[in-house]
Amino acid sequence: MTAPPLTLEFHALGQGTRQALIDDVRAGLGRQPKELPPRWFYDERGSELFELITELPEYYQTRTEAAILRQCASDVVQRVQPRSILELGAGASTKTRLLIEAAHSSGELRWFQPFDVSDAIVQRAARDLLRDFPGLTIHAVIGDFKEHLDRIPRFGRQLVVFLGSTIGNFFPDERRSFLSAVRQLMGPEDAFLLGVDLVKDPLVLEAAYDDAQGVTAQFNLNVLSVINRELQADFDLGSFRHVACYDRENQWIEMHLRSLGNQIVHIPGAGFTAEFKEGELMRTEISAKFTRQRVDESFAQAGLRTEAWYTDREERFALALAVPEER
Ligand code: SAH
Ligand code: TRP
Repeated sequence: MTAPPLTLEFHALGQGTRQALIDDVRAGLGRQPKELPPRWFYDERGSELFELITELPEYYQTRTEAAILRQCASDVVQRVQPRSILELGAGASTKTRLLIEAAHSSGELRWFQPFDVSDAIVQRAARDLLRDFPGLTIHAVIGDFKEHLDRIPRFGRQLVVFLGSTIGNFFPDERRSFLSAVRQLMGPEDAFLLGVDLVKDPLVLEAAYDDAQGVTAQFNLNVLSVINRELQADFDLGSFRHVACYDRENQWIEMHLRSLGNQIVHIPGAGFTAEFKEGELMRTEISAKFTRQRVDESFAQAGLRTEAWYTDREERFALALAVPEER
């Protein structure tokens, strides 16, 4: 019997997800300063807005990472010779195609496993990939990469990839547990390819997270639409403004929504009412920036070591290939 070309596995959907949103809203809006966790950005509209962000002139990250991948894909594939590529936070997997192509043509690759919280974008991407790479089998896993990494099946030697500097959206303690969980799911011959945005001029960074067309602002505000729809809340999107600023000490961008006036927001689905003061900031996401040293240290803490470091000429972005320390 031949394996079906596309299988889907769900770990985060429906009632469980709604309860998680309620918990996050109650905890985050109940605290001072207020905060919302970033995974709720990515409903269908959020995924679409994110795709638009990747094409913005100010958002150099995606283009730069793609250019580095074009240079290093065959080297990575030669070193790892993966039978499977597992992509965490896969989204549309546009850049990952460069790796799939290299591994597919070298003959060993059989499986692609996109893992994401957002099922719609992953299914769309899977259909396109199946059309373009005959012989490839896709097993998509829908889940939260902070909870469900231990549920992902393994199909032989694998290259785990985590692109787009999504690791920058974790706080340091979350980053540590995430990297340990990645190490746990790796076999001795597996490798982990990580995309990181590098420390640079704060003005360049701030522009990347506050573009002239206001797409990033729409993306940030979209989290309020998600809460309005899912929990019947009455956030007025016109009464909040997107703010992005670079924290030099922590070396991360902080994204906030600023309340433009004193206002009360009702969130009946969470049995919660939130009061905002004029000018109050609610943090929605951070995006940490890295140095080679910071990446090496983070890997070492998780039992990994950097085997290769690929970057662009201006050192704006980097891809780090890590393997288990004892290898
Ligand atoms: N890898 C793509 C997309 C990056 S955007 C790229 O490099 O362009 C971040 C992706 O992570 C989105 O697809 C989003 O749906 C997913 N994501 C966000 N939070 C998540 C979580 N907690 N668990 C799993 N996936 C998550
Ligand atoms: N992880 C990427 C980054 O931090 C992409 C991203 C996540 C993003 N959320 C964002 C980009 C919000 C712009 C705005 O750069």
